[in-house]
Amino acid sequence: MSTEHDTWALRGDLLDFTGLPAWGDLQPAQLRWRPSHWLLVRGSRIEAVQAEPPGPEWRRIDHAGRLVMPGFIDTHVHSPQLDVLASYGTELLDWLENHTFPAEARYADERVAQRGAERFVQALVNHGTTAALAFPTVHESATHALFDAAHRMDMRLITGKVLMDRHVPANLLDDVTNAEQACRRLIRRWHGIGRCAYAVTPRFAPTSTEGQLAMAAGLLREDPSLYLQSHVAENQAEVQWVRELFPQSRSYLDVYASGGLLHRRTVLAHGIWLDDIDRHALHEAGATIAHSPTSNLFLGSGLFNWQQAQAAGVRVAVASDVGGGTSLNLLRNLAAAYQIQALLGQRLTAWSALHAITLGAAQALDLDDEIGRLEPGCTADITVWDWAQEPVVQHRLSLARSLHERVFAWMTLGDERLLRSVVVAGRERLLPAGASSQPTSNRSI
Ligand code: GUN
Ligand code: ZN
Repeated sequence: MSTEHDTWALRGDLLDFTGLPAWGDLQPAQLRWRPSHWLLVRGSRIEAVQAEPPGPEWRRIDHAGRLVMPGFIDTHVHSPQLDVLASYGTELLDWLENHTFPAEARYADERVAQRGAERFVQALVNHGTTAALAFPTVHESATHALFDAAHRMDMRLITGKVLMDRHVPANLLDDVTNAEQACRRLIRRWHGIGRCAYAVTPRFAPTSTEGQLAMAAGLLREDPSLYLQSHVAENQAEVQWVRELFPQSRSYLDVYASGGLLHRRTVLAHGIWLDDIDRHALHEAGATIAHSPTSNLFLGSGLFNWQQAQAAGVRVAVASDVGGGTSLNLLRNLAAAYQIQALLGQRLTAWSALHAITLGAAQALDLDDEIGRLEPGCTADITVWDWAQEPVVQHRLSLARSLHERVFAWMTLGDERLLRSVVVAGRERLLPAGASSQPTSNRSI
């Protein structure tokens, strides 16, 4: 379908949220289910949502019987790490050294970075993700390339040059002064340009000196509209290392908290190994944990206690954390999130799960007036899904006795192959299967 900037209307079964569903509630008031409704889109925005068909001036695109949701929002993902997906054999710190840092070093080459950025942005879309908070690499030019690729697609993309001035290979090291200057150039060039915004991005406490963390905090103080993204308390060896590197800090989180790095636009990946005082500090700051289920399982990092975090008032979004995570598709990550909670003796509803990649993620980014909802005035970032394609899944869904049962089975069994349309700021951006923007290798082993 052509959705060049014009007026058009899309029909389907609309599912979104108006607030945070209570833990375990199968029929929350915050669930908004509008079967067989029309979404009216003018230019890049949703103009209306209605049950009645629109007038003849609206071009109609009929997805009757399909599921329509806001575009998914990935609150933690690494663009260069498509190159290290499914790397065998290691936990976090060895994985960084043996797989990730060598891959990221290749992004010093501007052509590698540019092609990687384009591949990444299209891959997000092809997995149903229309907005992301992403890590690029330490390189200013690679960060620029990522902004540029997203900007050309009018995608909501928040990123920022990775800061690391110790404990990484020499070809990935920066220093406080040069890093600050690069940040300032990138902020001037991209923060608030189109749908781009800047995130100050210290990789994690072990790879930044106190001087570099202080520089990062200074940028946030100067402009609180900047984001802050990092990692916290992912892996027990990492936590122990932080204890040794920052003996004066009460905890890993406290390195960031007392360093002035927590605010309502702070998103920290993982947060598995936190305590009550840490959770209280996150709640007070309005900061978010980007729970990354497939990554936590793949790297053997641990089981994030979502219910405990939510009970403490901590905002929780779900993220892919590719390439520690094994899929850009956030449904795959929600299925893993359910299994993690099950191992903790808890049950994650489809509503809590889907909220965490739509409205909940939008709130984490302070962008819920723009994304995460199917609401007049919001940007038209929309996904359209088949409920099922394979006979076994079709059969299972046909037996569902409630909306929750049906949506939960869809979420657990589905993936990006069910996508029928992905609209970014009013334009269709899903590339048909097989129409990859880059040739795949057909080399035989
Ligand atoms: N901690 C610091 N860097 C990384 C990274 O790239 N991935 C993950 N999962 N954890 C990290
Ligand atoms: Zn990560």
